[in-house]
Amino acid sequence: MTAFNQTVLLTGGAGYIGSHTFMALSDAGFTPVILDDFSNSHPAVLDRLAHLTGQRVLCERGSVIDTGFVAQVIRRHQCVAVIHFAGFKAVGESVQQPLKYYHNNVGGLVSVLQAMQTAGCQSIVFSSSATVYGDPDNVPITEQCPCAPESPYAHTKLMCEDILTSLRASDPAWRVGILRYFNPVGAHPSGLIGEDPDGIPNNLMPYVTQVAVGRRDKLNVFGNDYPTPDGTGIRDYLHVTDLAEGHVAAVRALLARHDSFTVNLGTGEGTSVLGVLHAFERASGRPIPFEFAPRRAGDVAEYFADVSLAKTLLNWRALRTIDDMCRDSWHWQQSNPDGYRNMAPHDLNVLQTNSLLSNHDGSRQPAASA
Ligand code: WQD
Repeated sequence: MTAFNQTVLLTGGAGYIGSHTFMALSDAGFTPVILDDFSNSHPAVLDRLAHLTGQRVLCERGSVIDTGFVAQVIRRHQCVAVIHFAGFKAVGESVQQPLKYYHNNVGGLVSVLQAMQTAGCQSIVFSSSATVYGDPDNVPITEQCPCAPESPYAHTKLMCEDILTSLRASDPAWRVGILRYFNPVGAHPSGLIGEDPDGIPNNLMPYVTQVAVGRRDKLNVFGNDYPTPDGTGIRDYLHVTDLAEGHVAAVRALLARHDSFTVNLGTGEGTSVLGVLHAFERASGRPIPFEFAPRRAGDVAEYFADVSLAKTLLNWRALRTIDDMCRDSWHWQQSNPDGYRNMAPHDLNVLQTNSLLSNHDGSRQPAASA
């Protein structure tokens, strides 16, 4: 089935992974439409996407909790599939505020599914996470590994997977693609879109890039006494563009074969914290000061994927290396020291404000004025 101009809705599409998936879908000939409330993203990304694609970016501002609004958007754009990114993802915050996570992450998915049913769209790709596995007994981790979530955030992801499984069991017309991400890092090679966390980054790569650009003094390496070759934690880092292309492969599989699947998206290789740090120093040409600190609660020693099922079912595998990830992360951060904040006005003029923001009440405005 050709992608030509088929419309795909991206809930949370203005975020880090959503914006990169927007680019991958556009490159593949689909028409992506963003639905975002900008509670955890910035409208400035819309102008960057317009610049990169050379086309008007379709974006509907509103909440996934508003079922009627979501159904209206699906109908308006005649979406053939939905990729559901919208959700909170800070593990630590989920421990402090579990209800916020259950309401937004689980309630949000239920609302989107109800809206899809109303609007007659029954193909969904769901952004899940490898954290559903908890602390695995063995690595590499396959999709058959037992799930043992250890945070409210991880529980919301597994509950969403269970909801999708029940829905499909009730009505086989539903086509469901569940993608369990390992550790997404990196940025679009243009340096125009990338990861832009609020406040102090929880995750390794954005913290390293902020040290390199001078926003942070040094990296705290959480633990150097793990049972790993250099004593630091090992993870499966995946270039965000590889991850985005995995979503395109998942949409194609749902539309072409009407089947459903749950697959890991990773490289199948592990890299230690010090391994990332040294790769980043090579990519940036800058030393990254660090100190060893106590282990972080909830961290595990080693975590990487068995990715054979994604290759078999989606004909997808990661193509980019840890050096590519560091190079692109550095290009983004060096080009945008403050991320999307404080974008100088001339940036918007240069980037041709072609994006159009539809507000909930149907009014429209250029994204730059948002
Ligand atoms: C990676 C490694 C840390 C920061 C998290 C979420 C998970 C998923 C991916 C959403 C670990 C070490 C980190 C720092 C450090 N997100 N580290 N100093 O914990 O594997 O997974 O992001 O789905 O839900 O839990 O990623 O980047 O936080 O940590 O030493 O300042 O870097 O100990 O070994 P993690 P991370």
